[in-house]
Amino acid sequence: MMASQQGELRSRLRGKRILICVGAGGVGKTTTSAALALGLAALGQKIAVVTIDPAKRLASALGLQELSGEPRRIGAEVFAEQGLEMKGELWAMMLDAKRTLDEIVVSLAPDEDAREEILSNPVYRELSTAVAGSHELSAIAKLYELHEEHDFDAIVLDTPPSRNALDFLNAPTRLLGFLEGRALKVFLTPGGLTARIFGRGTGLVFAIFARVTGIDMFSELSRFFRSLSGVLDGFGERTRGVAALLADPATTFLIVTSAEREPAREAVYLSERLAAANMQRGALIVNRVHGVGLDGHSVGEVRESLRPGLGEGLARRVAANLADFDLLAKRDRETIAGLSRALSEPEPILVPHLDEEIQDLLGLARIAEELLA
Ligand SMILES: Nc1ncnc2c1ncn2[C@@H]1O[C@H](COP(=O)(O)OP(=O)(O)O)[C@@H](O)[C@H]1O
Ligand SMILES: [Mg+2]
Repeated sequence: MMASQQGELRSRLRGKRILICVGAGGVGKTTTSAALALGLAALGQKIAVVTIDPAKRLASALGLQELSGEPRRIGAEVFAEQGLEMKGELWAMMLDAKRTLDEIVVSLAPDEDAREEILSNPVYRELSTAVAGSHELSAIAKLYELHEEHDFDAIVLDTPPSRNALDFLNAPTRLLGFLEGRALKVFLTPGGLTARIFGRGTGLVFAIFARVTGIDMFSELSRFFRSLSGVLDGFGERTRGVAALLADPATTFLIVTSAEREPAREAVYLSERLAAANMQRGALIVNRVHGVGLDGHSVGEVRESLRPGLGEGLARRVAANLADFDLLAKRDRETIAGLSRALSEPEPILVPHLDEEIQDLLGLARIAEELLA
């Protein structure tokens, strides 16, 4: 069923140095990124994979027990132990899911009312919207750093489970705009500027707020943003470097989806946004595709053929089960055909739904085989 694409992805990825997997949450972005990196490394390249929030067992399979901020090579003996051939090098790292500003506030607020008050505060809302992109941004910044400072043949980037999977394309600009805007200045320079911009009332409001709630939000946030601004020195230059890297012909985006309706819709949306931003799409990967059940036979035929081996009751149940699979497979085929049309992608890469959880190198290798044949 899935033989037509063999070798297809490999040739499409030739010469690509940055591969960015995007797609809706839960479709298999992290799995696909790791599997692709493993597969390319096994073929002989030096590959780094940057994952975001991998499941615990997958993380430890990749040797990522702790956040190190730098990629680590997975030792050749690890592959040998599992009977996997590794001609190249696989390096992996994971990015920290940065605490969002909301989480900081929630952890600081002594009670429900105080929490609600801050979260609905307009100044706070402006801050948190601007900083919302910082997770995406750190992924992109890391990518840039790895690209500049190492000699990987290719880097595979997983993307965060954000509602808008392409937020990170705008994150640099948004954060830059924010850093140059007035809200941050208020927090970076307590006293004078605050009074000038917001009038005397603001300081007083913060003071009363602090007394009533027991939170010195002003100094907490000042501290937070002062440390942020320290991190972001030289940010303008980096922003331009990152933008150039994303638009580079050796950078490509892989849209990952399942054959379910919502993720498929998201895939169409993502492809439109990529096109609008002049970003290149390397492939459409449809993950967790269901195989056929009855394989063209009727339920009765299958039941009869199973009966001698399984007995009447079990044969009936198994045949019914296989018929259910056919429904799923039919739905998948229809969704895939629709996606093909919408994205003008005659040959999407199909990866079957596997029965087992994919949480070790063997599981990844199986997916890699499907991806790269
Ligand atoms: N082809 C597949 N067959 C079976 N399970 C899969 C497949 N691809 C991914 N999974 C499982 O689906 C879950 C979500 O995958 P994950 O890669 O974490 O998605 P995402 O990063 O897009 O949120 C994981 O438990 C993973 O093991
Ligand atoms: Mg993920």
